[in-house]
Amino acid sequence: MNKTVLITGSSSGFGKLAAKTFQREGWNVIATMRSPEKENELNQLENVLVSRLDVTNQESVTQAVNEGIEKFGKIDVLVNNAGYGGHSFLEQFSEEQIYDMFETNVFGVMRVCREVLPHMRKQKSGTVINITSMAGYMGLTLTSTYSASKWAVEGLTESMAMEYRPFGIQVKAIAPGAFGTNFVNASDNNFEGGDDEIRESATKIGAHFHTVVAQMQKQSGQVADPQEVADKIYECATTETPVHNIVGADAEMLKGMIDSMPRQQFIEKLDELLLPKA
Ligand SMILES: NC(=O)c1ccc[n+]([C@@H]2O[C@H](COP(=O)([O-])OP(=O)(O)OC[C@H]3O[C@@H](n4cnc5c(N)ncnc54)[C@H](OP(=O)(O)O)[C@@H]3O)[C@@H](O)[C@H]2O)c1
Repeated sequence: MNKTVLITGSSSGFGKLAAKTFQREGWNVIATMRSPEKENELNQLENVLVSRLDVTNQESVTQAVNEGIEKFGKIDVLVNNAGYGGHSFLEQFSEEQIYDMFETNVFGVMRVCREVLPHMRKQKSGTVINITSMAGYMGLTLTSTYSASKWAVEGLTESMAMEYRPFGIQVKAIAPGAFGTNFVNASDNNFEGGDDEIRESATKIGAHFHTVVAQMQKQSGQVADPQEVADKIYECATTETPVHNIVGADAEMLKGMIDSMPRQQFIEKLDELLLPKA
């Protein structure tokens, strides 16, 4: 019997590539997304069920999980991939923007896990893979809310790995570095909020941040291929890997720095790099 994976946020980026990767490898794929009516590629593939799932909507989560189990009999692997980013000082986001980001990036992950875990417990096996970010390992200027949401999921993952191992269920996180998906376009930035001082600072720091990132990318001469993330998801689904995983040359470089120096020194190094000189 084929194995089955359920992936959230399969309409683009890592989610779509992961859906195609699992399908190529002979898996059944429950490719879930907010607007399945717009999908015209995944629904042409054999053993792929495209279904509606908005991680912020409990009813759609229950329905998609039930539909998937009805069609394929079980869910072996859950990939919590749906999520989005956003740049702003903490004060610039409205309360609603902060809650919305947590609703998708954190509570959305919990909601889908809570729906799938009873099925995995019944079958005494399963793997849950949460897509986090290097922003879940480190703070970055203008990224406070997103970073907080991804740190939350790293902590959730580590605790869940311990909670669910006795039931035969593995829980893992994958933190990607920067990859060219629709992520930047979909980000919820807010440089207009806050008072004059905050707005001026955000504009200056934002411009410097982009210059530094562009310089680093030029120096490395590497274009990060999002398929790397899809392959890492497949690897975590099919082989023994640690609870915390990272993917991408920039992620490896940053993790190397984090591991090689006291935390305070790392924070000061990042500050030096990312904050424009006064
Ligand atoms: N690209 C990067 O550099 C990067 C780096 C680190 C971590 N990540 C993380 O990787 C994950 C995937 O991002 P990506 O880079 O592939 O970006 P992407 O191309 O923008 O894909 C994000 C996916 O999440 C979906 N989504 C957003 N809100 C949702 C909701 N409420 N319910 C269900 N689906 C929802 C989007 O669906 P719609 O099409 O309906 O909007 C889309 O399918 C995210 O968790 C992101 O935080 C990305």
